[in-house]
Amino acid sequence: MSTLAIGVRKAESSDVEGITAVHDSSWRNAYEGLIPSQELARMIARRGPRWWNRAIRRGTAILVLEVGGTIAGYATFGPNRARDLAQKGEVYELYLLPEYQGVGLGTRLFLAARRELARLGFDSTVVWALADNDPACRFYRNAGGRRVARSTEQFGRTVLGKIAFAWPRGV
Ligand SMILES: CC(C)(COP(=O)(O)OP(=O)(O)OC[C@H]1O[C@@H](n2cnc3c(N)ncnc32)[C@H](O)[C@@H]1OP(=O)(O)O)[C@@H](O)C(=O)NCCC(=O)NCCS
Repeated sequence: MSTLAIGVRKAESSDVEGITAVHDSSWRNAYEGLIPSQELARMIARRGPRWWNRAIRRGTAILVLEVGGTIAGYATFGPNRARDLAQKGEVYELYLLPEYQGVGLGTRLFLAARRELARLGFDSTVVWALADNDPACRFYRNAGGRRVARSTEQFGRTVLGKIAFAWPRGV
C-alpha cells in the first residue's frame, strides 16, 4: 500500500503554475452560471502565472495545499478589508481543485490559514462568500462561521449578493 503525502505550506515561486491551475479550474467550476461568463473569463485571465508570481515575490500571504506533489488548493489571507467589521483578519480566497473537494482538505487549509492569521496577531476572522455559492456558504456555516453582514458585488451588469461569515477567536 502506498501513502499520499498531504501538507499545507507557504507558497513558493515554483508553485506558480500549480496555483494558476487551481485558480482557473476552481473558479470555473464554482462560478460558471453564477458570474456572467465574460466577466468570469476576464477575472480568470487576469490571474495568470505572472500575477501569481508577482504576488509571491511581493510577500502576499498564500498557503498551498499539496497532495502527493500536486498543488490541490490555495488560500490567501491578511488584514480585514472591511472597516465596519470588527474582525481583525480575513481569508480572502480559499479554493480547491474540484476533484479534491469534499474530503476534508478545505477544512484543513482553512484552519491553517486561520492559524497563520492568529500567529500574525489577527485572532478573529471574516470570510466573504457569494450568497448563491451554496456549497461555500454551507461549508463556512458548518465550520462554525456566524453570518455577520451582507453586501453586494458587481460583475459587469450583474449585481450579486455576498455574505460575511465570522469567527470571533483564533484557532
Ligand atoms: C469551499 C471549499 C474550500 C471547501 O473545501 P472542501 O474540501 O470541499 O470541504 P471539506 O471536505 O473540508 O468539507 C466539506 C464537506 O465534506 C465532508 N467531509 C469533511 N471531511 C471529510 C472526510 N474526511 N471524508 C469525507 N467527507 C468529509 C463534510 O461532510 C463537509 O460537509 P459540510 O460542509 O456539510 O461540513 C471547496 O469545496 C472549494 O474549493 N469550493 C469551490 C471554491 C469556493 O467556493 N471557494 C470558497 C469561495 S468563498
